[in-house]
Amino acid sequence: MQNIHEPSAIGRRCESLRREGKTIGLVPTMGAFHEGHLSLMRRARAENDVVIVSIFVNPIQFARGEDFDSYPRDLQDDLAQAERAGVDLVFTPSAEAIYPDGFQTYVDVTEITDGLCGASRPGHFRGVTTIVTKLFNLVRPHRAYFGQKDYQQSAVVRRLVDDLNLDLEIVLLPTIREADGLAMSSRNVRLTPEERQAACVLYASLRLTEERVEAGERNTKLLLDEMRTMIETEPLARIDYVALCDPETLKPLDQIEGPMLAAIAVRFGETRLIDNLLITLP
Ligand code: PAJ
Repeated sequence: MQNIHEPSAIGRRCESLRREGKTIGLVPTMGAFHEGHLSLMRRARAENDVVIVSIFVNPIQFARGEDFDSYPRDLQDDLAQAERAGVDLVFTPSAEAIYPDGFQTYVDVTEITDGLCGASRPGHFRGVTTIVTKLFNLVRPHRAYFGQKDYQQSAVVRRLVDDLNLDLEIVLLPTIREADGLAMSSRNVRLTPEERQAACVLYASLRLTEERVEAGERNTKLLLDEMRTMIETEPLARIDYVALCDPETLKPLDQIEGPMLAAIAVRFGETRLIDNLLITLP
């Protein structure tokens, strides 16, 4: 497995791979790998000639006061795991190489970034779409792989690809969970044992909504109240948002007529966790 640091070098390498007629699958990540990341790499491995994983903790998608400095980092372990997953090439640029002095161009997707995580993390998606655009331009992948765990991110990236006529396929893969339902996240390692236990309430509250909808409940206000009440039974949980929204536009739903996305963000101490579930009508 090759490890490339320089943006210009990855550009040249990918250019020559494309000229050889190879298909390229890209998995953008911030490292600290878990099974969620590995599931994307394995799928990319199955679908492309060459698999490229980027590992870059992107400073511009963290607001001041967020966890950029304390974000988990373990490059040696990540490299070993990527190699075992059959990755051909990792791209591990420095922040200075990605955002050199004088950098001043950003990619901004509007509307679909207004709600959910966009509302509680101003500037976050602008940082995501800017780095993702740069990665797409450098690698020019045929396919790029994203996890449903960050559903809004995947919807924003799809919008970006459509709106800017980028020539690649976005592949969205299911959320990988721990045995007790907690969505895997690089941030889970920062939970205390008590917070880790309490964090089970995220998935439990999503499942509650799914069951209530399956049983015929259609009152969104009631469903949201029930989710909130369940989360609030955990004294360590502080709700950031609880939402039922349209899976395409991510606008809040007043009425349930078709598929919906139940999405939540909850803080446990310093750690903010998100989760979501796509719910279809029976
Ligand atoms: P990161 O949080 O490292 O996630 C990289 C990819 O792994 C994302 O597509 C995310 O949705 C996916 N992922 C994370 N947890 C998952 C899980 N439990 N199951 C399935 N997939 C999961 O998301 C980012 O990095 C960054 O914002 C990035 C897109 C790299 C831009 O900096």
